[in-house]
Amino acid sequence: MTRSKIAGIGMYVPEHVVTNNDLKKYMDTSDEWIQERTGIQERHYAHRTKETTTTMGVEAATIAIQRAGITPQDIDFIVFATLCPDYYFPGCGVLVQRAMKMKEIGALDVRNQCSGFVYALSVADQFIKTGMYKNILVIGSEKHSFGLDFSTRGRNVSVIFGDGAGAVVLQPTEEANRGILSTHLHSDGSSAEILAMYNPGTHANHWTEKPLATFDEAEIAQMFMSHKMIDNAELFPYMDGPAVFKKAVVKFPEVIVESLKANNLTAKDINMLIPHQANLRISQFVQQHLGLSDDQVHNNIQKYGNTTAASVPIALCEAYEQGRIKDGDLVCLAAFGSGFTWASALLRW
Ligand code: ACO
Repeated sequence: MTRSKIAGIGMYVPEHVVTNNDLKKYMDTSDEWIQERTGIQERHYAHRTKETTTTMGVEAATIAIQRAGITPQDIDFIVFATLCPDYYFPGCGVLVQRAMKMKEIGALDVRNQCSGFVYALSVADQFIKTGMYKNILVIGSEKHSFGLDFSTRGRNVSVIFGDGAGAVVLQPTEEANRGILSTHLHSDGSSAEILAMYNPGTHANHWTEKPLATFDEAEIAQMFMSHKMIDNAELFPYMDGPAVFKKAVVKFPEVIVESLKANNLTAKDINMLIPHQANLRISQFVQQHLGLSDDQVHNNIQKYGNTTAASVPIALCEAYEQGRIKDGDLVCLAAFGSGFTWASALLRW
């Protein structure tokens, strides 16, 4: 039976470290508040002009490809997960294809926010299992720092997020009991607006019934993005933190248990859980709920903040580099985020 295995993994975080105390220069916050509520001590911010979501993805991908023992020209499909693409369109996948001088291969962008990487991995897994592709590059990358509200108004969101990227190369394996055992994907759109960035977008709220033919030049220029959006700070992400928290602590354990049951395993069998780094309190709740020891979970939100689609591959890469994951280990990846969407992947390393 053909399965997908992670043949190479890499991560990249920008050099610039921003501590909680640094954030106090912009907003009314404190190191105590941030650490107590989220566990975060610092995060990394990309260079404002020289680094983008794509360039960070390329840095992580370069390491993953090297570790897989192949070259960028061997990659035959790209899946790129992000919520902050370089352009509204096209997506970052094609920019990676160009930057890494790859063949004219397929490139797909995934828009599933915090669970984006696990969704992307699942998509790639299906292409490998069917025999369609042999070397798939899966990237999760985010440059949050370009679009956060650094005033006190946006502090509940902006202190949480950080920049970075992670990448893996997936390849087929025939080895028994190795590779991705299963993936499980879910969504519940009834709470889509609880954690969202509404603008710019085609949603009805800022549209008028007035016929287009009657628009003056100023109105036409502001159809997609208006001065009002800027003046009212409507171009920043919105989050109802407590509502997200309540849903996350239910869905995280649920999707992990689902993956274990599907493979006739229990939480005791997990060697390493890599939870999406949303908030240390959420990870601790999940760990406690499943009865896992500290040795069975890898958290690094303290250093990087929440890097959304990059958080799972960054944490996985770090755990691997620290020797916390060994051949044959049962590794569980799990994520929950905006949408809401949530997902898990169970794999034998
Ligand atoms: N510094 C200081 N005070 C703050 C800050 C800040 N950065 N942010 C908010 N506050 C204040 C609020 O204004 C509020 O003040 P008030 O009581 O005078 O009105 C008070 O702190 C409490 O605000 P809440 O939003 O109720 O704070 P809460 O205890 O819920 O913590 C948090 C907020 C950390 C966002 C929490 O709700 C949470 O972790 N939710 C989960 C959401 C999450 O993890 N999101 C990550 C992205 S989504 C994902 O990855 C799953």
